[in-house]
Amino acid sequence: MGINSAAPYNGVRSETPPGSENAHSLQGGNMGFKHKDIIALQDLTKDEIQLLLDTAENMREVNSRDIKKVPTLRGKTIINLFYEASTRTRTSFEIAAKRLSADTINISPSTSSATKGETLLDTALNLLAMKPDIIVMRHAISGSHYFLGKRLPCSIINAGDGAHEHPSQGLLDMLTMRQKFGRLDGLKVAIVGDITHSRVARSNIHGLTKMGASIRLCGPPTMVPPGIERLGNVTVCNDMRDAIADADVVMMLRIQLERQGKTLLPTLKEYSRYYGLNPENLKLARKDAMVMHPGPINRGVELSSYVADGDQSHILKQVENGVAVRMAMLYHVSGGELPTE
Ligand code: CP
Repeated sequence: MGINSAAPYNGVRSETPPGSENAHSLQGGNMGFKHKDIIALQDLTKDEIQLLLDTAENMREVNSRDIKKVPTLRGKTIINLFYEASTRTRTSFEIAAKRLSADTINISPSTSSATKGETLLDTALNLLAMKPDIIVMRHAISGSHYFLGKRLPCSIINAGDGAHEHPSQGLLDMLTMRQKFGRLDGLKVAIVGDITHSRVARSNIHGLTKMGASIRLCGPPTMVPPGIERLGNVTVCNDMRDAIADADVVMMLRIQLERQGKTLLPTLKEYSRYYGLNPENLKLARKDAMVMHPGPINRGVELSSYVADGDQSHILKQVENGVAVRMAMLYHVSGGELPTE
C-alpha cells in the first residue's frame, strides 16, 4: 500500500473526502464546529476554543453521575494509537470514549507492526480499512497528524506530536483555570521550564493568548526558543522571580531529557535552584495563585513535593478535567448530539 493510495484531504469536516467510504456528515447539535481533526490550538478560533470548554463543562456533569455513561457516540469506533508513553492522556481518552459509549481499541508501538518496520501511513491505512471513526494519536514527529489528517477521511485527534502541540492538555489547563477564576481574559500565566521541547507550552501559548491571557515564559536560555514572543501576548523573563511575581497561574514544565539531543543544563540541582518552584518563591505569586503541571512530575527538580502536594496545587484537578475535555473533543469531531440522558 503506497503513499498515494489515500487522496489528500483539506481537513474541513463539512466536505466529503474523495474516495471516502466512512466519512460521517455533520449532524445537528454541533453548533458550528467545522473541523474534521483537532491537531493544534493554533488552528482553532477563540469561539471554537470557547465551545470546546463549554461542552467540557457539560461533560463534567456526566462524569459526576452515579452511572457515568451516555449514548452519544454509540456505534462509533475510536482507535488510540500511541507511539510514545502516556499515563494520563491515553487513559483519559479511553475513559472519555467509553463514557460516550464508543468502542475503543488501544495500540502501542511495542505490540504493533511498527516494530517490523511498517510505515506510519501504512499502519494508518490498514487501521482505516477497519473503518474507525476517530484515530487519537501520539507521535514523536511534529506534524505527523497533519500528514495523516490530509490523507485519511476519519478524524484525527492529536494526543501530542513531538515538541509541536498537545491540544487536549492546553484545553484541560484552560478549563481548570476558568473554573477557578471564572474567566481566562486578563489572567497572568507564568510558564516555567523547558519551553523549547514543550508541546504543552506551545498549546497553552496559542490557546491562552487567543482567550485574552498574558503569558510570561521563563527557562534556561538554552531552553527558550528565540522569537517565541512573536506567538502572541508573550514576554520572556530571564529571572524566574520576575515571571511568577503577581502571577495568577504558575505552570511548571517537566524537563524533557528524552527530547534533548545534547545537554542543555549543567546539573538538575542547579536547574532546581534557579527554575524550580518551592514554597519560598511561590510567595511571589498571587496569594491564591494556581500551581499547575501537566505531569509526569520530576519531584524535587521543577517542583518541590511541598508545592506539588500543597493547597495551591491543581495538578489532580487538571487530570480530572482531562476526561471531560477529551469527551468534548470526541463529541465535536463526531458531530453528535449533546447528552440528555
Ligand atoms: N500530560 C501528559 O501528556 O501526560 P501523559 O504523558 O501521561 O499522557
